[in-house]
Amino acid sequence: MSSTNLTKQSVRTDAQCTALEELHQQFRLPTAELKKVSSHLVEEMREGLKTHNATVPMLPSFIKHHPTGQEQGEYLALELSGSYARTFLVHLHGKGRITTRQQKYRITENLKRGSITALIDFLARCVDSFLLFVGKQSVEAAPLALGFSISFPLNQTAINHASVRRWTKDFEITGADNQNLSALLQNSLNKLKAPVVVKAVLNGTAGCLLAHNYRSLDTLLACTVSTGTNAAYWEKAVKVVKYDIKGAKEDDEVIMDTEWGSFGDDNPNYLPRTFYDNTVNRESINPGVHLFEKMISGLYLGEIVRCIMVDFLDRRLIFDGQYTKELNTPYFFEVSYMSAIEMDSSEDLEDTKHILETILNIPTTTLVDRQMVKRFCGLVGQRAARLTAAAMSAVIDKRNVLETGLSVSVEGSIYEHYPSFPERVNTGIREIYGANVDLINIGVTRDGNGIGAALAAMIACTRD
Ligand code: BGC
Repeated sequence: MSSTNLTKQSVRTDAQCTALEELHQQFRLPTAELKKVSSHLVEEMREGLKTHNATVPMLPSFIKHHPTGQEQGEYLALELSGSYARTFLVHLHGKGRITTRQQKYRITENLKRGSITALIDFLARCVDSFLLFVGKQSVEAAPLALGFSISFPLNQTAINHASVRRWTKDFEITGADNQNLSALLQNSLNKLKAPVVVKAVLNGTAGCLLAHNYRSLDTLLACTVSTGTNAAYWEKAVKVVKYDIKGAKEDDEVIMDTEWGSFGDDNPNYLPRTFYDNTVNRESINPGVHLFEKMISGLYLGEIVRCIMVDFLDRRLIFDGQYTKELNTPYFFEVSYMSAIEMDSSEDLEDTKHILETILNIPTTTLVDRQMVKRFCGLVGQRAARLTAAAMSAVIDKRNVLETGLSVSVEGSIYEHYPSFPERVNTGIREIYGANVDLINIGVTRDGNGIGAALAAMIACTRD
Protein backbone atom coordinates (compact mmCIF):
# COMPACT_ATOMS: atom_id res chain seq x y z
CA MET A 1 0.00 0.00 0.00
CA SER A 2 1.53 3.33 -1.03
CA SER A 3 1.88 6.08 1.53
CA THR A 4 3.50 8.66 -0.77
CA ASN A 5 0.45 10.96 -0.89
CA LEU A 6 -0.13 10.95 2.82
CA THR A 7 0.99 13.65 5.21
CA LYS A 8 3.87 12.94 7.56
CA GLN A 9 1.50 12.39 10.43
CA SER A 10 -0.34 9.75 8.46
CA VAL A 11 2.52 7.54 7.37
CA ARG A 12 1.79 3.91 8.17
CA THR A 13 4.40 1.56 9.53
CA ASP A 14 5.40 -1.46 7.49
CA ALA A 15 3.57 -3.69 9.95
CA GLN A 16 0.38 -1.68 9.47
CA CYS A 17 0.71 -1.78 5.68
CA THR A 18 1.22 -5.55 5.71
CA ALA A 19 -1.71 -6.14 8.06
CA LEU A 20 -4.00 -3.94 5.98
CA GLU A 21 -2.99 -5.71 2.81
CA GLU A 22 -3.71 -9.08 4.43
CA LEU A 23 -7.10 -7.83 5.53
CA HIS A 24 -7.81 -6.56 2.05
CA GLN A 25 -7.00 -10.01 0.63
CA GLN A 26 -9.41 -11.66 3.07
CA PHE A 27 -12.30 -9.35 2.26
CA ARG A 28 -11.89 -8.82 -1.46
CA LEU A 29 -14.22 -10.76 -3.70
CA PRO A 30 -13.00 -10.86 -7.28
CA THR A 31 -15.56 -11.52 -10.01
CA ALA A 32 -14.69 -15.23 -10.21
CA GLU A 33 -15.38 -15.56 -6.50
CA LEU A 34 -18.72 -13.78 -6.87
CA LYS A 35 -19.73 -16.23 -9.57
CA LYS A 36 -18.72 -19.15 -7.37
CA VAL A 37 -20.80 -17.87 -4.46
CA SER A 38 -23.71 -17.38 -6.83
CA SER A 39 -23.55 -20.90 -8.25
CA HIS A 40 -23.32 -22.44 -4.77
CA LEU A 41 -26.46 -20.55 -3.80
CA VAL A 42 -28.25 -21.82 -6.92
CA GLU A 43 -27.29 -25.34 -5.83
CA GLU A 44 -28.67 -24.78 -2.32
CA MET A 45 -31.87 -23.22 -3.69
CA ARG A 46 -32.47 -26.25 -5.92
CA GLU A 47 -32.01 -28.52 -2.92
CA GLY A 48 -34.46 -26.38 -0.94
CA LEU A 49 -37.11 -26.85 -3.62
CA LYS A 50 -36.69 -30.61 -3.33
CA THR A 51 -36.42 -31.32 0.38
CA HIS A 52 -38.05 -30.02 3.54
CA ASN A 53 -34.96 -29.67 5.70
CA ALA A 54 -32.54 -28.03 3.27
CA THR A 55 -30.09 -25.35 4.40
CA VAL A 56 -31.77 -22.70 2.27
CA PRO A 57 -35.31 -23.73 3.14
CA MET A 58 -37.24 -22.19 0.19
CA LEU A 59 -40.57 -21.64 1.91
CA PRO A 60 -43.75 -21.38 -0.16
CA SER A 61 -45.97 -18.39 0.55
CA PHE A 62 -49.15 -19.85 -0.96
CA ILE A 63 -49.45 -16.61 -2.94
CA LYS A 64 -50.17 -17.78 -6.47
CA HIS A 65 -51.64 -14.71 -8.14
CA HIS A 66 -49.64 -11.80 -9.51
CA PRO A 67 -51.22 -8.42 -8.84
CA THR A 68 -52.25 -6.71 -12.07
CA GLY A 69 -51.77 -3.16 -10.81
CA GLN A 70 -55.43 -2.46 -11.64
CA GLU A 71 -56.95 -3.68 -8.37
CA GLN A 72 -58.70 -1.10 -6.24
CA GLY A 73 -59.86 -0.93 -2.63
CA GLU A 74 -58.80 -0.30 0.94
CA TYR A 75 -56.92 -2.85 2.99
CA LEU A 76 -55.15 -2.90 6.34
CA ALA A 77 -51.66 -4.16 6.96
CA LEU A 78 -49.59 -4.94 10.01
CA GLU A 79 -45.84 -5.32 9.70
CA LEU A 80 -43.50 -6.79 12.29
CA SER A 81 -39.87 -6.26 11.31
CA GLY A 82 -36.59 -6.18 13.24
CA SER A 83 -37.14 -3.24 15.56
CA TYR A 84 -40.55 -1.85 14.72
CA ALA A 85 -44.15 -2.74 14.09
CA ARG A 86 -46.04 -0.62 11.61
CA THR A 87 -49.70 -0.40 10.74
CA PHE A 88 -50.95 0.70 7.34
CA LEU A 89 -54.18 1.65 5.69
CA VAL A 90 -53.42 1.01 2.04
CA HIS A 91 -55.53 2.50 -0.69
CA LEU A 92 -55.14 0.77 -4.05
CA HIS A 93 -56.14 3.17 -6.80
CA GLY A 94 -55.41 0.98 -9.83
CA LYS A 95 -52.91 1.87 -12.61
CA GLY A 96 -50.13 0.87 -10.20
CA ARG A 97 -50.93 3.78 -7.86
CA ILE A 98 -51.07 3.37 -4.10
CA THR A 99 -51.46 5.76 -1.18
CA THR A 100 -51.02 4.86 2.47
CA ARG A 101 -51.55 6.14 5.98
CA GLN A 102 -49.34 4.55 8.55
CA GLN A 103 -48.01 4.50 12.09
CA LYS A 104 -44.89 3.07 13.65
CA TYR A 105 -44.37 1.46 17.09
CA ARG A 106 -41.10 0.42 18.71
CA ILE A 107 -40.68 -3.23 19.71
CA THR A 108 -39.08 -3.10 23.15
CA GLU A 109 -36.39 -5.54 24.29
CA ASN A 110 -38.96 -7.11 26.67
CA LEU A 111 -41.25 -7.88 23.76
CA LYS A 112 -38.38 -9.29 21.68
CA ARG A 113 -37.58 -11.76 24.43
CA GLY A 114 -41.06 -12.37 25.84
CA SER A 115 -43.97 -14.68 25.10
CA ILE A 116 -45.85 -14.89 21.81
CA THR A 117 -49.04 -13.85 23.65
CA ALA A 118 -47.45 -10.62 24.89
CA LEU A 119 -46.14 -9.85 21.41
CA ILE A 120 -49.41 -10.54 19.57
CA ASP A 121 -51.52 -8.69 22.16
CA PHE A 122 -49.22 -5.70 21.72
CA LEU A 123 -49.58 -5.87 17.92
CA ALA A 124 -53.37 -6.12 18.20
CA ARG A 125 -53.39 -3.00 20.40
CA CYS A 126 -51.32 -1.19 17.73
CA VAL A 127 -53.93 -2.11 15.09
CA ASP A 128 -56.77 -1.08 17.37
CA SER A 129 -55.31 2.35 18.13
CA PHE A 130 -54.48 2.80 14.44
CA LEU A 131 -58.15 2.19 13.54
CA LEU A 132 -59.05 5.07 15.82
CA PHE A 133 -56.36 7.24 14.21
CA VAL A 134 -57.71 6.61 10.69
CA GLY A 135 -61.36 6.76 11.76
CA LYS A 136 -62.14 3.12 10.94
CA GLN A 137 -63.07 1.84 14.39
CA SER A 138 -66.82 1.62 13.82
CA VAL A 139 -68.11 -1.93 14.36
CA GLU A 140 -71.17 -1.10 12.23
CA ALA A 141 -69.14 -0.89 9.01
CA ALA A 142 -67.95 -4.01 7.15
CA PRO A 143 -64.73 -5.27 8.79
CA LEU A 144 -61.50 -4.40 7.01
CA ALA A 145 -59.32 -7.18 5.61
CA LEU A 146 -55.80 -7.22 7.04
CA GLY A 147 -52.54 -8.77 5.84
CA PHE A 148 -49.87 -9.50 8.47
CA SER A 149 -46.26 -9.43 7.29
CA ILE A 150 -43.56 -10.68 9.56
CA SER A 151 -39.79 -10.63 9.02
CA PHE A 152 -39.12 -14.19 10.12
CA PRO A 153 -39.18 -17.53 8.31
CA LEU A 154 -42.64 -19.08 8.28
CA ASN A 155 -43.98 -22.59 8.05
CA GLN A 156 -46.93 -21.83 5.86
CA THR A 157 -49.81 -24.15 4.94
CA ALA A 158 -52.25 -21.61 3.46
CA ILE A 159 -52.27 -17.90 2.70
CA ASN A 160 -53.76 -17.27 6.15
CA HIS A 161 -52.07 -20.05 8.08
CA ALA A 162 -48.44 -19.84 9.18
CA SER A 163 -46.28 -20.32 12.24
CA VAL A 164 -42.78 -18.99 12.86
CA ARG A 165 -40.23 -21.60 11.88
CA ARG A 166 -37.33 -19.98 13.67
CA TRP A 167 -36.80 -16.62 15.37
CA THR A 168 -33.81 -14.88 13.83
CA LYS A 169 -31.93 -11.62 14.42
CA ASP A 170 -32.16 -10.78 18.14
CA PHE A 171 -35.64 -12.20 18.81
CA GLU A 172 -36.18 -15.06 21.27
CA ILE A 173 -39.95 -15.48 21.61
CA THR A 174 -41.39 -18.29 23.72
CA GLY A 175 -44.53 -20.35 23.20
CA ALA A 176 -44.79 -19.75 19.46
CA ASP A 177 -44.12 -23.30 18.22
CA ASN A 178 -46.74 -24.38 15.68
CA GLN A 179 -48.98 -21.46 16.63
CA ASN A 180 -50.95 -20.07 13.70
CA LEU A 181 -50.12 -16.37 13.69
CA SER A 182 -53.23 -15.23 11.91
CA ALA A 183 -55.50 -17.07 14.39
CA LEU A 184 -53.57 -15.64 17.33
CA LEU A 185 -53.83 -12.13 15.94
CA GLN A 186 -57.51 -12.58 15.12
CA ASN A 187 -58.24 -13.71 18.71
CA SER A 188 -56.42 -10.72 20.18
CA LEU A 189 -58.24 -8.36 17.81
CA ASN A 190 -61.58 -9.97 18.68
CA LYS A 191 -60.91 -9.41 22.38
CA LEU A 192 -60.52 -5.71 21.56
CA LYS A 193 -63.64 -5.81 19.37
CA ALA A 194 -61.62 -4.44 16.49
CA PRO A 195 -63.56 -4.70 13.18
CA VAL A 196 -60.79 -6.52 11.32
CA VAL A 197 -60.48 -9.88 9.58
CA VAL A 198 -56.98 -11.31 9.25
CA LYS A 199 -56.91 -12.63 5.67
CA ALA A 200 -53.22 -13.25 5.02
CA VAL A 201 -49.93 -13.78 6.74
CA LEU A 202 -46.64 -13.63 4.85
CA ASN A 203 -42.94 -12.99 5.08
CA GLY A 204 -42.04 -9.30 4.72
CA THR A 205 -39.83 -9.88 1.69
CA ALA A 206 -42.67 -11.68 -0.10
CA GLY A 207 -44.67 -8.55 0.67
CA CYS A 208 -42.01 -6.37 -0.98
CA LEU A 209 -42.24 -8.52 -4.09
CA LEU A 210 -46.02 -8.03 -4.30
CA ALA A 211 -45.68 -4.29 -3.66
CA HIS A 212 -43.14 -3.86 -6.46
CA ASN A 213 -45.21 -6.12 -8.72
CA TYR A 214 -48.21 -3.82 -8.38
CA ARG A 215 -46.32 -1.14 -10.29
CA SER A 216 -43.87 -3.25 -12.34
CA LEU A 217 -45.51 -6.41 -13.59
CA ASP A 218 -42.20 -7.99 -14.62
CA THR A 219 -40.79 -8.02 -11.06
CA LEU A 220 -39.18 -11.40 -10.47
CA LEU A 221 -37.35 -10.89 -7.25
CA ALA A 222 -37.38 -8.80 -4.09
CA CYS A 223 -34.43 -8.53 -1.72
CA THR A 224 -34.18 -7.08 1.74
CA VAL A 225 -30.88 -5.90 3.17
CA SER A 226 -31.73 -4.50 6.54
CA THR A 227 -31.25 -5.73 10.14
CA GLY A 228 -31.51 -9.13 8.47
CA THR A 229 -31.46 -10.17 4.83
CA ASN A 230 -33.69 -12.25 2.59
CA ALA A 231 -35.09 -12.65 -0.91
CA ALA A 232 -38.43 -13.80 -2.28
CA TYR A 233 -39.13 -14.56 -5.94
CA TRP A 234 -41.70 -16.04 -8.31
CA GLU A 235 -40.94 -19.70 -8.93
CA LYS A 236 -42.70 -22.06 -11.31
CA ALA A 237 -45.12 -24.05 -9.14
CA VAL A 238 -44.12 -27.32 -10.86
CA LYS A 239 -40.51 -26.78 -9.72
CA VAL A 240 -41.49 -26.84 -6.06
CA VAL A 241 -41.02 -30.57 -6.02
CA LYS A 242 -41.29 -30.99 -2.26
CA TYR A 243 -44.94 -29.89 -2.41
CA ASP A 244 -47.20 -31.58 -4.82
CA ILE A 245 -49.04 -28.36 -5.69
CA LYS A 246 -52.36 -29.76 -6.79
CA GLY A 247 -53.25 -29.20 -10.41
CA ALA A 248 -50.26 -26.87 -11.00
CA LYS A 249 -49.89 -26.02 -14.68
CA GLU A 250 -46.62 -25.33 -16.46
CA ASP A 251 -47.07 -21.53 -16.28
CA ASP A 252 -48.36 -21.27 -12.72
CA GLU A 253 -46.10 -19.44 -10.34
CA VAL A 254 -45.86 -19.11 -6.59
CA ILE A 255 -43.88 -16.72 -4.39
CA MET A 256 -41.08 -18.55 -2.61
CA ASP A 257 -39.38 -17.10 0.44
CA THR A 258 -35.80 -18.26 -0.02
CA GLU A 259 -34.52 -17.41 3.49
CA TRP A 260 -31.11 -17.00 1.89
CA GLY A 261 -29.79 -15.73 5.24
CA SER A 262 -29.04 -19.37 6.09
CA PHE A 263 -27.04 -19.97 2.91
CA GLY A 264 -23.81 -21.75 3.93
CA ASP A 265 -25.04 -22.96 7.34
CA ASP A 266 -24.29 -26.57 6.44
CA ASN A 267 -21.54 -25.80 3.92
CA PRO A 268 -19.56 -22.91 5.46
CA ASN A 269 -16.92 -23.31 2.74
CA TYR A 270 -19.49 -22.06 0.20
CA LEU A 271 -18.89 -18.62 1.69
CA PRO A 272 -15.62 -16.66 1.73
CA ARG A 273 -15.62 -16.39 5.52
CA THR A 274 -12.84 -14.78 7.50
CA PHE A 275 -11.49 -15.17 11.00
CA TYR A 276 -13.74 -12.22 11.99
CA ASP A 277 -16.90 -13.83 10.58
CA ASN A 278 -16.11 -16.93 12.61
CA THR A 279 -15.74 -14.85 15.76
CA VAL A 280 -19.02 -13.00 15.17
CA ASN A 281 -20.82 -16.26 14.52
CA ARG A 282 -19.33 -18.08 17.52
CA GLU A 283 -20.25 -15.25 19.89
CA SER A 284 -23.75 -14.64 18.49
CA ILE A 285 -26.98 -15.79 20.19
CA ASN A 286 -27.49 -18.34 17.39
CA PRO A 287 -24.08 -19.83 16.46
CA GLY A 288 -24.10 -21.77 13.19
CA VAL A 289 -27.37 -20.19 12.08
CA HIS A 290 -27.74 -17.61 9.29
CA LEU A 291 -24.06 -17.48 8.34
CA PHE A 292 -24.75 -15.56 5.14
CA GLU A 293 -26.91 -13.03 6.97
CA LYS A 294 -24.07 -12.52 9.45
CA MET A 295 -21.80 -11.36 6.61
CA ILE A 296 -24.12 -8.83 5.06
CA SER A 297 -26.89 -7.51 7.24
CA GLY A 298 -27.11 -4.45 9.46
CA LEU A 299 -27.17 -6.29 12.76
CA TYR A 300 -23.70 -7.73 12.17
CA LEU A 301 -21.64 -5.36 9.99
CA GLY A 302 -20.62 -3.10 12.88
CA GLU A 303 -19.73 -6.13 14.97
CA ILE A 304 -17.43 -7.46 12.24
CA VAL A 305 -15.63 -4.09 12.18
CA ARG A 306 -15.43 -4.06 15.99
CA CYS A 307 -13.78 -7.51 15.90
CA ILE A 308 -11.25 -6.25 13.34
CA MET A 309 -10.48 -3.20 15.51
CA VAL A 310 -9.99 -5.39 18.59
CA ASP A 311 -7.72 -7.75 16.65
CA PHE A 312 -5.60 -4.90 15.28
CA LEU A 313 -5.49 -3.35 18.74
CA ASP A 314 -4.32 -6.61 20.32
CA ARG A 315 -1.59 -6.76 17.69
CA ARG A 316 -0.61 -3.18 18.65
CA LEU A 317 -1.40 -1.94 15.14
CA ILE A 318 -3.93 0.76 16.11
CA PHE A 319 -4.87 3.04 19.00
CA ASP A 320 -1.42 2.68 20.59
CA GLY A 321 -2.70 -0.26 22.61
CA GLN A 322 -5.47 1.78 24.29
CA TYR A 323 -8.65 -0.24 24.84
CA THR A 324 -11.94 0.77 26.40
CA LYS A 325 -15.05 -0.86 27.80
CA GLU A 326 -17.03 0.37 24.80
CA LEU A 327 -14.62 -1.17 22.31
CA ASN A 328 -14.77 -4.42 24.24
CA THR A 329 -18.56 -4.52 24.28
CA PRO A 330 -20.09 -6.77 21.59
CA TYR A 331 -22.48 -4.94 19.24
CA PHE A 332 -21.57 -1.55 20.75
CA PHE A 333 -20.13 -0.38 17.43
CA GLU A 334 -23.28 -0.06 15.35
CA VAL A 335 -23.58 -0.01 11.59
CA SER A 336 -24.66 3.65 11.74
CA TYR A 337 -21.11 4.50 12.93
CA MET A 338 -19.73 2.65 9.92
CA SER A 339 -21.97 4.72 7.65
CA ALA A 340 -20.76 7.95 9.24
CA ILE A 341 -17.13 6.87 8.94
CA GLU A 342 -17.51 5.82 5.31
CA MET A 343 -19.06 9.22 4.58
CA ASP A 344 -16.37 11.17 6.42
CA SER A 345 -14.36 12.95 3.74
CA SER A 346 -12.77 15.61 5.95
CA GLU A 347 -8.99 15.87 5.76
CA ASP A 348 -8.48 14.92 9.42
CA LEU A 349 -11.38 12.50 9.50
CA GLU A 350 -13.12 14.57 12.17
CA ASP A 351 -16.34 12.53 12.32
CA THR A 352 -14.32 9.35 12.63
CA LYS A 353 -12.30 10.96 15.43
CA HIS A 354 -15.55 11.85 17.22
CA ILE A 355 -16.88 8.29 16.97
CA LEU A 356 -13.61 6.75 18.14
CA GLU A 357 -12.74 9.23 20.86
CA THR A 358 -16.16 10.30 22.16
CA ILE A 359 -18.38 7.31 21.49
CA LEU A 360 -15.84 4.50 21.84
CA ASN A 361 -13.97 6.57 24.44
CA ILE A 362 -10.49 5.90 23.07
CA PRO A 363 -8.41 8.66 24.73
CA THR A 364 -6.45 9.67 21.60
CA THR A 365 -6.30 8.52 18.00
CA THR A 366 -3.89 9.39 15.21
CA LEU A 367 -4.86 10.12 11.65
CA VAL A 368 -3.45 6.71 10.73
CA ASP A 369 -5.74 5.02 13.28
CA ARG A 370 -8.71 6.81 11.77
CA GLN A 371 -7.69 5.99 8.20
CA MET A 372 -7.26 2.35 9.12
CA VAL A 373 -10.71 2.18 10.73
CA LYS A 374 -12.21 3.87 7.68
CA ARG A 375 -10.57 1.21 5.54
CA PHE A 376 -12.01 -1.57 7.74
CA CYS A 377 -15.49 -0.12 7.26
CA GLY A 378 -14.95 0.16 3.51
CA LEU A 379 -13.82 -3.46 3.19
CA VAL A 380 -16.70 -4.85 5.26
CA GLY A 381 -19.33 -2.62 3.60
CA GLN A 382 -18.06 -3.38 0.12
CA ARG A 383 -18.01 -7.14 0.70
CA ALA A 384 -21.60 -7.03 1.99
CA ALA A 385 -22.77 -5.27 -1.17
CA ARG A 386 -20.87 -7.64 -3.47
CA LEU A 387 -22.26 -10.70 -1.68
CA THR A 388 -25.73 -9.22 -2.12
CA ALA A 389 -25.02 -8.88 -5.85
CA ALA A 390 -23.86 -12.51 -6.04
CA ALA A 391 -27.00 -13.70 -4.24
CA MET A 392 -29.27 -11.66 -6.50
CA SER A 393 -27.64 -13.17 -9.53
CA ALA A 394 -28.24 -16.66 -8.12
CA VAL A 395 -31.99 -16.09 -8.20
CA ILE A 396 -31.86 -14.52 -11.67
CA ASP A 397 -29.83 -17.48 -12.96
CA LYS A 398 -32.07 -19.99 -11.22
CA ARG A 399 -35.09 -18.63 -13.11
CA ASN A 400 -33.06 -18.15 -16.29
CA VAL A 401 -35.06 -15.12 -17.40
CA LEU A 402 -32.32 -12.59 -18.11
CA GLU A 403 -32.90 -12.58 -21.85
CA THR A 404 -36.43 -11.26 -21.53
CA GLY A 405 -35.48 -8.57 -19.01
CA LEU A 406 -36.77 -8.27 -15.48
CA SER A 407 -37.30 -5.94 -12.54
CA VAL A 408 -35.82 -6.46 -9.12
CA SER A 409 -37.02 -4.78 -5.96
CA VAL A 410 -34.62 -3.98 -3.14
CA GLU A 411 -35.35 -2.40 0.19
CA GLY A 412 -34.03 -2.16 3.70
CA SER A 413 -32.02 0.25 5.81
CA ILE A 414 -28.65 -0.99 4.60
CA TYR A 415 -29.50 -0.88 0.91
CA GLU A 416 -31.29 2.46 1.23
CA HIS A 417 -29.01 4.29 3.66
CA TYR A 418 -25.53 2.74 3.83
CA PRO A 419 -23.19 4.89 1.72
CA SER A 420 -22.57 3.58 -1.81
CA PHE A 421 -24.36 0.28 -1.13
CA PRO A 422 -26.50 0.37 -4.31
CA GLU A 423 -23.52 1.46 -6.43
CA ARG A 424 -21.41 -1.38 -5.04
CA VAL A 425 -24.21 -3.89 -5.68
CA ASN A 426 -24.52 -2.59 -9.24
CA THR A 427 -20.79 -2.91 -9.82
CA GLY A 428 -20.93 -6.54 -8.67
CA ILE A 429 -23.90 -7.32 -10.92
CA ARG A 430 -22.21 -5.62 -13.86
CA GLU A 431 -19.09 -7.74 -13.33
CA ILE A 432 -21.25 -10.87 -13.33
CA TYR A 433 -23.43 -10.06 -16.36
CA GLY A 434 -21.38 -7.61 -18.42
CA ALA A 435 -23.50 -5.58 -20.84
CA ASN A 436 -26.57 -7.76 -20.09
CA VAL A 437 -26.86 -5.87 -16.84
CA ASP A 438 -28.99 -3.38 -18.75
CA LEU A 439 -31.73 -6.02 -18.90
CA ILE A 440 -32.08 -5.83 -15.12
CA ASN A 441 -34.07 -2.96 -13.75
CA ILE A 442 -33.37 -2.52 -10.04
CA GLY A 443 -35.75 -0.31 -8.04
CA VAL A 444 -36.22 0.50 -4.39
CA THR A 445 -39.58 -0.43 -2.82
CA ARG A 446 -40.41 1.80 0.14
CA ASP A 447 -42.90 0.41 2.69
CA GLY A 448 -43.00 -2.84 0.71
CA ASN A 449 -43.56 -5.09 3.74
CA GLY A 450 -46.76 -3.25 4.63
CA ILE A 451 -48.08 -2.51 1.16
CA GLY A 452 -47.40 -6.11 0.14
CA ALA A 453 -49.27 -7.42 3.18
CA ALA A 454 -52.29 -5.34 2.13
CA LEU A 455 -51.97 -6.75 -1.41
CA ALA A 456 -51.85 -10.29 0.00
CA ALA A 457 -55.09 -9.56 1.90
CA MET A 458 -56.58 -8.26 -1.36
CA ILE A 459 -55.53 -11.43 -3.20
CA ALA A 460 -56.96 -13.60 -0.41
CA CYS A 461 -60.29 -11.72 -0.59
CA THR A 462 -60.65 -11.55 -4.33
CA ARG A 463 -58.83 -14.49 -5.92
CA ASP A 464 -58.51 -17.36 -3.46
C1 BGC B 1 -35.36 -13.44 8.38
C2 BGC B 1 -36.19 -13.23 7.13
C3 BGC B 1 -36.43 -11.76 6.92
C4 BGC B 1 -35.10 -11.02 6.88
C5 BGC B 1 -35.26 -9.53 6.66
C6 BGC B 1 -34.09 -12.60 8.33
O1 BGC B 1 -33.41 -12.69 9.56
O2 BGC B 1 -35.03 -14.79 8.53
O3 BGC B 1 -37.40 -13.93 7.23
O4 BGC B 1 -37.15 -11.56 5.73
O5 BGC B 1 -34.40 -11.23 8.09
O6 BGC B 1 -35.92 -8.91 7.70
